[in-house]
Amino acid sequence: MRFDILTLFPEMFEPIKQSIIGRAEKKNLLEINLINIRDFSKNKHKKVDDTPYGGGAGMVMMPDVVYDAYHSILNGKQASVIYLSPQGKTLTQAKVKELAKKDHLILLCGHYEGIDQRVLDEIVTEEISIGDYVLTGGELPAMVLIDSVSRYVEGVLTEESTKEESFAEGMLEYPQYTRPEVFHGNRVPEVLLSGHHENIKKWRQEMSRKITKQKRPDLLNKN
Ligand SMILES: C[S@@+](CC[C@H](N)C(=O)[O-])C[C@H]1O[C@@H](n2cnc3c(N)ncnc32)[C@H](O)[C@@H]1O
Repeated sequence: MRFDILTLFPEMFEPIKQSIIGRAEKKNLLEINLINIRDFSKNKHKKVDDTPYGGGAGMVMMPDVVYDAYHSILNGKQASVIYLSPQGKTLTQAKVKELAKKDHLILLCGHYEGIDQRVLDEIVTEEISIGDYVLTGGELPAMVLIDSVSRYVEGVLTEESTKEESFAEGMLEYPQYTRPEVFHGNRVPEVLLSGHHENIKKWRQEMSRKITKQKRPDLLNKN
């Protein structure tokens, strides 16, 4: 899967190149391209933003620079453009799975007060938010989206890892334990040491329901 990221701060994406996502990129399961919007400024000072018409605080990213950066990646092809925005629909696991079916996504990161509405109207397919709060830029949200979507790209994780986890079946995951068997006087639940697969499955399902009821009862009401 290919991600093209339009950003004013490509250096902010260094963390996404680590761990599981970094390994998947090395194996060519993922391609993460960073496009610096500033490179498309025609201004001798590489200016990319200006004051808002009508007045008000902050700076607005200019439409022509953003458009030229976008146009440079298309090469005659079509691709969905996601604008990371606090005004978008909140990212959910269902949306993550839907996006993972695509071969190519362009992610547009705003900064400052945001981006001139005219270029958004022209190029954006959908707006996605990572929650009801305002961040300084779309870079962290883009990394959240890449990380969550990449987990569903074939070969990045084992299929089991994404089947039995929070939200996969509309519930939260059961608790996990590893060695040692006793930690600070607390034993691992006996059933997990029994080797009885049917009982382990039943216990995990019960724990999933219990934890979801405690922590996120709203999820149970959705089913
Ligand atoms: C300071 S914000 C602009 C907020 C905008 N003036 C508003 O009130 O809707 C700058 C950029 O950060 C990104 N951003 C901020 N909060 C976000 C969120 N919750 N989800 C996704 N992107 C966000 C967007 O790309 C946005 O263009």
